[in-house]
Formats: sequence, structure tokens, C-alpha cells
Amino acid sequence: MFPQRRMRRSRSRNIQPLLCEITLSKNDLVAPLFVDEKITAPLPIESMPGQFRYPISGIATVAVELWKRGVRAVLIFGIPKDKDPDACSAWRAEGVVQQAVRRIKAEVKGMVVITDVCACEYTDHGHCGIVGDTRSGPDLLNDPSLELMNAIAISHAESGADIVAPSCMLDGMVGSIRTALDKAGFEDVLIMSYSTKFASALYGPFREAADSGFTFGDRSTYQLSCGNSREAILESQMDADEGADILMVKPAGFYLDILSEVATLGLPVAAFQVSGEYSMIKGAAERGWIKEKETVLESLISIKRAGAELIITYFAGDVAGWLDEKQ
Ligand code: PBG
Ligand code: ZN
Repeated sequence: MFPQRRMRRSRSRNIQPLLCEITLSKNDLVAPLFVDEKITAPLPIESMPGQFRYPISGIATVAVELWKRGVRAVLIFGIPKDKDPDACSAWRAEGVVQQAVRRIKAEVKGMVVITDVCACEYTDHGHCGIVGDTRSGPDLLNDPSLELMNAIAISHAESGADIVAPSCMLDGMVGSIRTALDKAGFEDVLIMSYSTKFASALYGPFREAADSGFTFGDRSTYQLSCGNSREAILESQMDADEGADILMVKPAGFYLDILSEVATLGLPVAAFQVSGEYSMIKGAAERGWIKEKETVLESLISIKRAGAELIITYFAGDVAGWLDEKQ
């Protein structure tokens, strides 16, 4: 075709911005926040430079700051003072997440508050629900754990959460929570399902951040194995069929092929750029090996290009600031 077709014509400085397919917007961003019931001042998370656990008393201020920058949604993780085998502290009206949600909602009306519905921060064994004996030894029990998830989701909705996000990878979790929410009068609360969640080494830093590591086994009997793409799509399809409003792929960057396929199912899709993805970029940038801002923006645009409407990222606050600089 050359010289009739010159691809570089369209890349000239003035033309290029007009032809741009994918742009990031503040509306794409969800900021994860860690709230710790045991502290009274922000506590830096060592494995995630620049991230903190916040005390309940300080969480509204953090939300206000994010809101001022234009971040419209937060995802709340709680670190309770008490853990037990049944995660009782996960569904108390005075639990850490419940208190945090009420404070954020009182201070920043428009902020969309999403809550992580899982038990691993609240169980002493660190698994994502009720544990018991199975044919292959001690493991997460599916159906008994569903009751627990229903109770957690309802308590979050009662506190004012707009969206509940079950992350336990139990079979039937979305249908169970949907029925429970509707019965309790919360037809308007959305479910963002961690529908396609892989058993990933990239959650390592999170487990320090949220104190949610397990004392035996691992999560491979409930989370997906990284090589299984048909199973990964079926998981999201089943959650769609059970009534999920938003699907999720997690982690994001290593799983863009899965993300682009989940995006064809017809529901909005969120991608979770997880703690390990954050810390890899941060760690290399701190050493001067890569440029942080350029790398982060490239990673997020790639996630959006693959098909995500929403990106949950620990860089959300920074990105909102950078988007202002660019205009
Ligand atoms: C809880 C949960 C996890 C993450 C989000 N919700 C950890 C896990 O499954 O072990 C990981 C988030 C991250 O790494 O940033 N089930
Ligand atoms: Zn969990």
C-alpha cells in the first residue's frame, strides 16, 4: 500500500488526540480502602507503599479527599478487632465495615460505597467462610457459608452500602445474596460479584494489608486455577444468571484475555487491579526502574481496552489527580 497509506499521517501531534479510541475517565475508578477497628491513626502498609489502613474515625476524611479529586466510588475492606471460627464480627451492626459505611455516607452523600462481602478478615483460620471436615480433609464448606454471606450482605445494606461485592467464590453466592437482600427490602442494592476470581499469588500484599492470610491449606478449592479459561467464563456466566448486576475479573493485568471474553456476556464488567499488581509497579518505580505514572496509565488503559467499564485500583486517587494535570 505504501506510499498511498502512511499510518504515521494519523499519528501527527494534532491529529492523534482526535483519533484516540480509549481514554480513562474518573468515572472508571474505584478506590479500595482498608479500615482497621484497632487503630487510631493511619498505619502504613509495608507491602503496599503509599497505602494505609485507616481508623474508623478517619475514614470519612479520606472519602472526602477522594471525592474532591473526582473519585466516585470506594470499596471497603474491614479489619476487625475480634476473629473467631464463624466470623461473627463480620455482620454486627457495630462492625468495622458497617461503621465505616455509615460515616462515609453521612459525610459524602454521592459517594458510591461498595463493600467486600467475605469472611477471611473475620475468621481465625483465615478462610473465606465456615470451615469443616470434608472427604479430602478440612476445607471451606459451601452451603453453611452462604448463610453467613447473606447476613454480611444484609448488614452492609442496612448500613447504607450501595453495592455489595461477594468475593468468597462460593457456589450459589449471588443467587443466595440476591434472595436475602430482596426479602429484607433491599431490592435497590446492587451485587457486584467477584465472579471470575483466580487463586493468585498477586494477592500476597493484600493479605498483609487486610490481615487475611490463612492458617492451613490455600484458596485453590474455591478460587480458579490460572490456566482454566472455559471454567473462568462459566463462573461469570453463572453469576450473571443468578442475578449479578456487575461481573468482575480479578486479577486484571495477567487476565486480559479472560476480561475481554467476560465483557461479551452482556453485563457491565469491573476489573480488580490487585495488591500485587500495585506493588510490582510501585516497587520498580521506587527503584527508578520504570516511570510510575506512565506505567500505571498504560496498565489501566489496557484494562479498559480489554473491556472493563470499572477499574478497582489502589492508584485511583493518584490517577484522578493525573487526569486533572492532563487537561
Ligand atoms: C477477600 C479478598 C481478597 C482480595 C479481595 N478480596 C484476598 C483473597 O482472596 O485472598 C484481594 C485483593 C488484592 O489483592 O488487592 N476474599
Ligand atoms: Zn475471602
